[in-house]
Amino acid sequence: MVPQSLFPNGRWLLCEPKYFDVTYEINPWMSLKRTPERTRAQQQWQALHHTLIRLGAWVEYVDPLPKQPDMVFTANAGLVIGKRCILTRFKHAERQGEEAGYRTWFEQQGYEVVVAKSGFFEGEGDALFAGTTLFVGCGFRTDPAVEGELKQLSGAKELVMCELSNSYFYHLDTCFCPLDAERALVYPGAFSSTSLARMAKYIRLIEIPEADARRFACNMVPLGKRVVVPAGCSATYELLAKEGFEAAPVELDEYMKAGGAAKCLCLRL
Ligand code: ARG
Repeated sequence: MVPQSLFPNGRWLLCEPKYFDVTYEINPWMSLKRTPERTRAQQQWQALHHTLIRLGAWVEYVDPLPKQPDMVFTANAGLVIGKRCILTRFKHAERQGEEAGYRTWFEQQGYEVVVAKSGFFEGEGDALFAGTTLFVGCGFRTDPAVEGELKQLSGAKELVMCELSNSYFYHLDTCFCPLDAERALVYPGAFSSTSLARMAKYIRLIEIPEADARRFACNMVPLGKRVVVPAGCSATYELLAKEGFEAAPVELDEYMKAGGAAKCLCLRL
């Protein structure tokens, strides 16, 4: 395995979009009447892949499984802490077939694979670290009952449950992104007001406008001082610049048809 220190911008797990498609509807973005265009989707994934590498990320690949069109969204494979992976337990039957493929990959790579027995948990899609604090989204996919078990399995110092209240932002990574331990971008309209107030006690929240949120602006991948962000979110790029970060935009609208963008397409290892 490649030593982490050689790649200060991290190791990331990706899955080629070989079988990517919209063949069922499990979030409000997905419609069987609006399926992705294959060649464009391939090109967009390649552009994301290239951008990650150009910005100094190390990339690993899990084999795509046939009939699992959403497996390209590896953020949902699990949550990785050192050599441990808390494997996802998908809520929807349509995605549960991905779990075996992810498990095999993590086991072959020598990870300790554990699962949260107390409920559904959709991995980094719903669980993001800012320093030693773990923010966990619930309300649509991840079960609030996993809180205690997740705290123990992840070793997080603090765990903050974040209640999602808008079905367009059904995973935490669609509406919240820590830039570092101190600050995070957020779309406030995605959260219950009590959750938002709780989150603000742990981290400085930088609010992005709704129009950008709907273009998946929060679904970004910070790599040092540069951030891979979906295209067309100029207000967010300005907010990032004010904080000392530079946006690296990538066109990902074919993946938005399935309800995902940059961050959903990679998992931090
Ligand atoms: N179609 C997928 C689903 O609904 C999209 C997952 C996007 N992933 C994410 N981490 N937000 O599960």
